[in-house]
Amino acid sequence: MKNKTIKRFYEIAKPHIKTFVMIILFSIIIDILAASRPILVKNVIDEFMQNKVEVKEFSKFGRNFIISVNFIGIIYILIVLIENVLDFIMMKLTSITGEKIMHETRQRIFAFAQKANIRFHDKTPSGKLFARITSDTEDLSIFFEDVLVTVFQDVSYIIVISIIMLKLNWKLSLIVYGIVMICVFITYIFTKKANLAYNLSKDARTRLNTFLSEAIYGAKTIKIFNIQKIINKEEREIAEDHAEKIVKTAKYEAPLAQILFFFMCLLLAIIIVISAKKLWNIEIALGEIFVFITYIRELFDPITRTLENIEGVQEAVVSLNKIYDIIDETDFIEDFSSGKEIENVNGKLEFKNVWFKYNDNDENWVLKDISFCIEPTQTIALVGKTGAGKTTIINLVNRFYEIQKGEILLDGINIKDINLNSLRKHIGNVLQDPFIFSGTIKENIELSNEMSEEQVNEAIDLASARDFINSLQNGIYEQAHERGENFSVGQKQLIAFARIFALNPDIFILDEATANIDTSTEQLIQKSIDKLSREKTAIFIAHRLSTIVNVDKILVLKDGEIIEQGTHKELLETHGYYSKLYNSYYESLSSV
Ligand SMILES: Nc1ncnc2c1ncn2[C@@H]1O[C@H](COP(=O)(O)OP(=O)(O)OP(=O)(O)O)[C@@H](O)[C@H]1O
Ligand SMILES: [Mg+2]
Repeated sequence: MKNKTIKRFYEIAKPHIKTFVMIILFSIIIDILAASRPILVKNVIDEFMQNKVEVKEFSKFGRNFIISVNFIGIIYILIVLIENVLDFIMMKLTSITGEKIMHETRQRIFAFAQKANIRFHDKTPSGKLFARITSDTEDLSIFFEDVLVTVFQDVSYIIVISIIMLKLNWKLSLIVYGIVMICVFITYIFTKKANLAYNLSKDARTRLNTFLSEAIYGAKTIKIFNIQKIINKEEREIAEDHAEKIVKTAKYEAPLAQILFFFMCLLLAIIIVISAKKLWNIEIALGEIFVFITYIRELFDPITRTLENIEGVQEAVVSLNKIYDIIDETDFIEDFSSGKEIENVNGKLEFKNVWFKYNDNDENWVLKDISFCIEPTQTIALVGKTGAGKTTIINLVNRFYEIQKGEILLDGINIKDINLNSLRKHIGNVLQDPFIFSGTIKENIELSNEMSEEQVNEAIDLASARDFINSLQNGIYEQAHERGENFSVGQKQLIAFARIFALNPDIFILDEATANIDTSTEQLIQKSIDKLSREKTAIFIAHRLSTIVNVDKILVLKDGEIIEQGTHKELLETHGYYSKLYNSYYESLSSV
């Protein structure tokens, strides 16, 4: 294991180090107690049963002891009791610690994902993040809860009984270990093959799960295109492949137990024959035979378990590194705490020769030398074809990404120097496909801010969403399903509008925000927006050009450059790109 990996394990285990020390101590005590039980029986066989006595006198440490067979019996029972109690405490401790570690790691990844910037979310598919939070943390908890302690306990048990066997009879011990080594080799080969097959079956399972979730998620599209038969066939193939790989795993796992059982019986038979015939000068007392037979029976399980658990260790290492590969990327953490706090915002927004591309090593600039200024209370519109860079400008105002060249100023302050929390508090966005959380409409409007019913209702009225809310059985307490799927896209936009009206930010940004709302509702919302934007700075993006004719300034974007700017009237008079766009938009309307 690399140093880095050990460090990472240590970091995760550190808060629980005391518990682990206790667990290790307990497991050593349990091992010694378990190994001493056959020794007690050996003493009874050799000292009491053969001599047919009940009580025996020993002299040890210069003193004489009288020990009865009943006393040994009581000790035996006590040992079993202590072992069980310690085992119970240990199991409780390990499962609590494992769960705690899983919870803590989940929290860490989740907190990271919350603090990470948009660039991180761009490059990390949500499925991947999900797998880190769920299955990888689970692998880790299994490691701490089960694998680590079991490996430690098994290995220490093997060591303890090996020492006792060597002390009792080294020649017999060598024979035992000779055969055990053969078994270790066989187990190693079989578990390796089974693990290989198991990993293939895991890949097949991931493929199956991805396919199923996509097919269920896209059920509507599948029906629309009437491709159920093809999808069914594909599903059958993937599911059969998965089943085949599982069977292969069993093919290697199933015979191993039988083979090992055979070797164990063989070894027991050899011990009995050697002892009975006193082969190779091996003299062995009856009690010792009992100890050997017991130890051999108890030796096989820990050995095979340890070999199997090596895979568990490897899995935990992979999961641990996958988790850390995500949370170690501190470059993606957004700094919310530093920078100037801004209280009262006038709303003057200025872009000065801004150059931007999403990735530093991309060849082409997405925005080229963008300069414009919006005075407080002004409203501007961004216009241009798909992919021109309109949303990108909005992303930069929110400082979702850092620009490569130029400056963006809010009230004359570079937004790089403004505290992110405080900056975003003053900006309200309504996007084309707003995200609705599962919860009530009220919760969706207030988000994490506590608001009174009156405040929420006022926002709903401003967003012209009253008719829509009234049509719901429970009004503002109607539950939104996952991702707001029980609402139409237009209704979701209305909720998003109510959200920013409730927030009442200093800068309004609407990116295709009314694209899915019918024209009469749109006109109603427009009135509210007009009213508000008279006092606030606002940026609109709309493909329906009729909605922006009244704005103070229109910026026309083409391939990341501002090619024209002015009012609607001025731009039409110049007969340039905008007037062409507008005319084709108008023609498309009249041809409907
Ligand atoms: N997260 C991203 N990572 C990399 N490239 C991106 C990203 N988002 C957008 N782009 C690229 O930036 C360019 C501008 O995209 P942008 O979203 O700003 O267009 P737009 O003008 O808003 O278009 P639309 O009208 O379709 O919404 C496009 O070429 C797009 O491929
Ligand atoms: Mg866009």
